[in-house]
Amino acid sequence: MSQTCRPAVFLDRDGTLIEDIGYVRQPSEVVFFPETFEALRRLQEHFVLFVVTNQPGISQQILRAEEVESVNRFVTGTLREAGIVITQVYVCPHQRQEGCECIKPRPFYLQQAAKEYSIDLRRSFCIGDHPHDIELARNAGAEGVYVLTGHGQQHREEVPAGTPIVRHIGQAAEWILRRIGWKEFLPTEEEIARAADCLRRGGLVAFPTETVYGLGADALNERAVRRIFEVKRRPSFDPLIVHVGTIEQARRLVRDFPREAESLAERFWPGPLTLVLPKEAIVPDVVTAGLPTAAIRMPAHPAALALLRRAEVPVAAPSANLFGYVSPTCAEHVREQLGDSVDFLLDGGPCSVGVESTILSLAVRPPLLLRYGGISAEQIEEVIGPVQRVGFTEHTPQAPGRLEHHYAPRTPLFLAPELIHPPKGRRVGLLTFRPAADAGDFAAAEVLSESGNLEEAARNLYAAMRRLDRCGLEEIIAVAVPNEGIGRTINDRLCRASWNKPKDIF
Ligand code: TXA
Ligand code: MG
Repeated sequence: MSQTCRPAVFLDRDGTLIEDIGYVRQPSEVVFFPETFEALRRLQEHFVLFVVTNQPGISQQILRAEEVESVNRFVTGTLREAGIVITQVYVCPHQRQEGCECIKPRPFYLQQAAKEYSIDLRRSFCIGDHPHDIELARNAGAEGVYVLTGHGQQHREEVPAGTPIVRHIGQAAEWILRRIGWKEFLPTEEEIARAADCLRRGGLVAFPTETVYGLGADALNERAVRRIFEVKRRPSFDPLIVHVGTIEQARRLVRDFPREAESLAERFWPGPLTLVLPKEAIVPDVVTAGLPTAAIRMPAHPAALALLRRAEVPVAAPSANLFGYVSPTCAEHVREQLGDSVDFLLDGGPCSVGVESTILSLAVRPPLLLRYGGISAEQIEEVIGPVQRVGFTEHTPQAPGRLEHHYAPRTPLFLAPELIHPPKGRRVGLLTFRPAADAGDFAAAEVLSESGNLEEAARNLYAAMRRLDRCGLEEIIAVAVPNEGIGRTINDRLCRASWNKPKDIF
């Protein structure tokens, strides 16, 4: 797969992930900082994780390399059980004053990671509690974040000016995630050009949108579109959304672009609204699953718009995941599931909306809301007046591909109107909107929004489901969110993902 290089976070071990007690010789001496797990879970959504640990005791012959090995194995094993993957652990056995090659002139291990795992060091970070960790970052062209746990307090004065200094790894993760906010995470012109070229030649390009990542192909190229269905293992009766870069392009794909479409496009495009309209003959039947209508949307993510405008072809794209599974909201999610079957993956950082677009059919009267999404029914009604809503389980020719079981993690998920206690003796995970007072009986818990903000909850929903899915749980209990605005969409997705389908929550 030709793809943009991935960024990484290089983590110091002692004083950063676990308490620094001097020479750690055996697993029983390991104490993780309480913030470590959550911080790494969030970071791994966007970064490949490595540990780089300095163990000068080895060269001083106070500590055996085997002892360090066994502690490292315990640390990575424990993290793996919590769903966190450390790709590689590097050990520098030298004393810092020796000025070893592990740090300078070129940080040996970081260069090696860059080569072996195609890491983009300039978009990478190091987190550590020693000024050397910051030096390591600088020599690699990466950024260092200094934590005050462990040795942090002692060497604070030696930290180069301008280095972010934070209390612990949780805050370091927060700082980094804020630093890479999706606006700063845009692909380069050259990457956009390569992706556009790939589309024009009939290739498959995974690209970011503000809702979820899409798996795109030239919508007018039947062969290319067929490959989308193969790669996703998507049934051919489920039609695709066609993405456009301009309203002009949208108009060329449909027989008529009515007044309502004009008003809605003016208000919500580019953005998370898809309009279904009678199609022109140039839109192939594979795209629309044989329907006489086409679903069209202009996405708002700047990288998606740049790609569409550069490619100058309409792009058919479903979400870039295997059929039925949770939609991807960052490039890493796409890589996990579709990896090599994609010709080009354009990394545009995390999605800002986090749930799919709202789908509205203007091919029937009155307009019919086919899928709840990033724009609420109320917002649409403000512009064009009353719309009908399709029932949760309704299957009509106007509403194909609305499967009752969809957007689902592999772990059985049950949706409850409010917090319930997990069955005794089972490993159960919890997915809640706001922090729960008694989440202690759950083996893992995800809070969608600490501050109770529904937009934030939507943004976190799919990544949280994926994290829980990696925890080896027997089941997940999800608690419904307030049924208003985008909360309605979150409940719709939770209900579809659930095994019990409590439709009365709506
Ligand atoms: O936010 C989104 O809409 C994302 C991003 C990538 O743009 N795309 C997405 O696509 O969610 P997908 O494939 O997961 O959903 C497409 C759904 C179909 O399952 C079907 O319900 C509806 O769009 N659809 C497509 N064409 C239609 C048509 N002609 N009439 C009615 N519904 C249609
Ligand atoms: Mg340390």
